[in-house]
Amino acid sequence: MSVMYLRGGTPLEGELAVHGAKNSVLPILAACLLARGPVTLHNCPRLTDVTAALGILRHLGCRVEQEGHTITVDSTGASGSAVSEEQMRAMRSSIIFLGPLLARTGEAHLTYPGGCELGPRPIDLHLSAIRAMGCQVSEDRGIHCQGRPRGGEVQLALPSVGATENAMLCAVGATGTTTIANAAREPEIGDLQDFLNSLGARVQGAGSSAITIEGGRELSGGELTVMGDRIVAATLLSAAASAGGKVRLSGVDWRHLATVLSVFHQAGCRVESKLEYVELERGREVPLKGVPTIRTAPYPGFPTDAQAPVMAALAASQGCTLFVETMFDSRYRHVPELIRMGADITTEGRVALVRGVERLHGARVEAADLRGGGALAAAALGAEGTTVLSGLNHIDRGYEGLEKMLQCLGASVERREV
Ligand code: EPZ
Repeated sequence: MSVMYLRGGTPLEGELAVHGAKNSVLPILAACLLARGPVTLHNCPRLTDVTAALGILRHLGCRVEQEGHTITVDSTGASGSAVSEEQMRAMRSSIIFLGPLLARTGEAHLTYPGGCELGPRPIDLHLSAIRAMGCQVSEDRGIHCQGRPRGGEVQLALPSVGATENAMLCAVGATGTTTIANAAREPEIGDLQDFLNSLGARVQGAGSSAITIEGGRELSGGELTVMGDRIVAATLLSAAASAGGKVRLSGVDWRHLATVLSVFHQAGCRVESKLEYVELERGREVPLKGVPTIRTAPYPGFPTDAQAPVMAALAASQGCTLFVETMFDSRYRHVPELIRMGADITTEGRVALVRGVERLHGARVEAADLRGGGALAAAALGAEGTTVLSGLNHIDRGYEGLEKMLQCLGASVERREV
């Protein structure tokens, strides 16, 4: 088993280019099934979730190559329409293959997806979108979908990111035009739209709540550079806010982080946002301040994925901060671990009250999910003494070499086999 040793107390200093976004590359990899020619993707992070997606593509008959941060997928010879239970369980995003499989083969056989345990994560919206495009869905011992998709009206009861992406991917291969109402507006959906359009699809509206797809166009191969990961950026900024110092991050669009940056600004950090970079600075002698209620919400609201890292930074602050997690039932699993490090936090249901303490202390803690893991690392760098962090399998799903990124910013971090 690997663990991370993190010694707190050193301010972070330096510059870093943030790696490509997990939540962008995963739907884009699934979209490669729709291309009739090789696709080359740059800036692909090396993550276990990406490895899982490549495994699914190979299983379906695609030729896949990965060299450094570039992935080439040729789906010309793909003929499969089933994803195994083991592959489905490996990550939540395996469900994103549903739409492209139906579009490509007229059938899809999957099981319920796995992924981070954030409470119940139903897929009813994905299935109702598929039904709205005329496909039949049976949930008898797995998920079995059949039928050539036709353009339709997809009305999402909630702006689900995954259901929006699945509907877009299915609609690209459908005959006729599809509209998605109450679509999610996350920036990664814009990246998917750009990718599809670069292959010859006609998709418009990403970033708004209404997306229109003119289906049935043959897609060619192509090339794309995946956008930077705004949640990795939010985690590194949380680490800098926690430890103090001055860090500059490039490769992300600060506008995608506006709500997070506003929290750091209110907490007393200096934040500079430019087209090319975002910079955060906090003198170690200047304590963070509690901020008004942080309520997670679909984009452009405060991202649920940044809730844990930002909470970790504010655990050592002057004053209180109330968090309301509106997206997932069980997204406070980092709280008991922060309490081990000396934090004063109480939770009730989806609400958490953080009473800032002067300083956290190092402890043995375990990540229970991906962003909770990033949060514990951020907390550890501001704490007194050494923290031993386990559960790195969760962290490796979404942060490429988190310890290396932190080392690059001057942190004292090591990964060891124990
Ligand atoms: C995406 O998950 C992200 N994953 C998550 O990232 C992120 O937390 C989440 O969006 C919210 O921003 C990827 O993009 C790969 P949703 P997704 O469908 O698509 C409910 C991370 O740490 N819902 O937008 O699964 C659902 O229960 C993670 O990188 C239904 O009720 O999220 C939740 O309450 C983990 N029925 C809400 O919608 C459905 O069919 C939003 O979920 C689908 C969702």
